[in-house]
Amino acid sequence: MSDSSRDLDTAAANAPDREAARPADHPSDRPPVLIVDDDPSMRAGLRQWMRLAGFEPVEAVDAEQALTLLTPDFAGCLVTDVLLPGASGVDLLRKVKAIDAELPVVLLTGHGDVSMAVEAMHHGAADFIEKPFDPDVVAAVVRRSVAHRHLVLENRALTRRLDDLQGLEARLIGECAEMRRLREQISHFARTDASVMIVGETGTGKEVVARALSDLSVRAKGPFVAVNCAALPETMVEAELFGHEAGAFTGAERLRVGRMEQADGGVLFLDEISAMPLLLQPKLLRVLQEREVDRLGGARPVPIDVRVLSAVNVDPQTSVAAGRLRQDLLYRLNAVEIRIPPLRERAGDARLLFDSFANRFAVDYGCEHPQLTADDAAFLATHDWPGNVRELRNAAERFVLNAAMGARSLCSLVIGDAGGDPAPRGRLKDMMEAHERRVIADALARHAGSIAPVLVELDLPRRTLNEKMARLGLSRGEIAEADAERSK
Ligand SMILES: Nc1ncnc2c1ncn2[C@@H]1O[C@H](COP(=O)(O)OP(=O)(O)OP(=O)(O)O)[C@@H](O)[C@H]1O
Ligand SMILES: [Mg+2]
Repeated sequence: MSDSSRDLDTAAANAPDREAARPADHPSDRPPVLIVDDDPSMRAGLRQWMRLAGFEPVEAVDAEQALTLLTPDFAGCLVTDVLLPGASGVDLLRKVKAIDAELPVVLLTGHGDVSMAVEAMHHGAADFIEKPFDPDVVAAVVRRSVAHRHLVLENRALTRRLDDLQGLEARLIGECAEMRRLREQISHFARTDASVMIVGETGTGKEVVARALSDLSVRAKGPFVAVNCAALPETMVEAELFGHEAGAFTGAERLRVGRMEQADGGVLFLDEISAMPLLLQPKLLRVLQEREVDRLGGARPVPIDVRVLSAVNVDPQTSVAAGRLRQDLLYRLNAVEIRIPPLRERAGDARLLFDSFANRFAVDYGCEHPQLTADDAAFLATHDWPGNVRELRNAAERFVLNAAMGARSLCSLVIGDAGGDPAPRGRLKDMMEAHERRVIADALARHAGSIAPVLVELDLPRRTLNEKMARLGLSRGEIAEADAERSK
């Protein structure tokens, strides 16, 4: 046993009295320390001390083995002897820095090897310690390096989330609080392997969310396999999902790899899962639990590694209560539930989405981005969009195309008409108010929010106009802004 490892043993025996020796509550909470040394007794000493100091030791006998043990975003630090069989500790340091320049590497050098130490520091070593060393010093250096590493990783995660959120803003447009929260949730849960169930009415963007979850995850490069359980005939769901061997049943001439197997290494998106035939639900549950698929007619199960995302357009508990969805399957699928609000509940977003779609279609079709009248704007804000974003997107497309052939009101395009908007129905007072609001908003928009010409045009005293605008919730600033925005 070397001197330094004897030192380690003695110090380790006293360790419980020291502050450094406080172990983490749970072994997996301990930061890893990769010890690289070909001398087994030195490794044993360091291992013991690192464990007592609250770290999780991982060991390698040489540089080559060490490199296989490093994972991206390795959460701890490396402690390596300079003299190793094959590549030296300094070579290892260089290679590690090429993989991750911010991964701390502490070098253990022979006595008096100053030039080696200088070279090591030059290549970015976190520190070097001369042998024989005091184990307390090693613990202190490792603790400092690990604390620094922790900060670096926190910073990286933060930068990554900001990048994610920026990317998501373009894919999932919406500025209301609910949409902001939705993007936060996606960026957070994308990095986990949890099963996510996406709940939202038709056209709210469930598939957009599923793809974003996949694209921001470690499985981004793997396959994304979407299965619409409602679109498959009941008799075909089993073969489609689980696959079959050649000759498994009449007509099964060739082996077929099921969708679940196709998703191996990636993401399986089970769309409209409540439409999954009840008889097959236990089989699906078994596959998800065992992580292996039984092909129809197969002799043995095939292991698969998939992350499962699913979507429903009605509350899954309603489907459970109606006996269409098994509760045990639901538990398996909704470790995380992401709810997308319907468009009518996203204040202000209809206009934002409409403008963005209309812009895109105007570019695609090579036409002008048409102006919205105050009526169109009011319709956008008050229509309840039962088909949600999909309906709005279609409306924007028709609006752009129709504008090129002579304008039509958005309302008539969406609700349909025989040459005019449908006759309004309801309380006379409400209809009068809506009409009054429309007339004033239109006049304000035409005069870019300036009051004087509106007073003349509508032949109203200033005070009456002010009162009406306050009662009808009209602001000239907003109208002028909306108008200016439109004419850009
Ligand atoms: N927030 C959004 N920003 C931009 N585009 C969106 C947004 N939400 C949805 N879309 C677009 O709306 C359309 C419908 O979205 P998607 O297909 O994801 O809805 P869905 O909830 O899966 O609908 P369904 O229940 O009918 O399957 C797509 O063209 C999608 O790109
Ligand atoms: Mg969908």
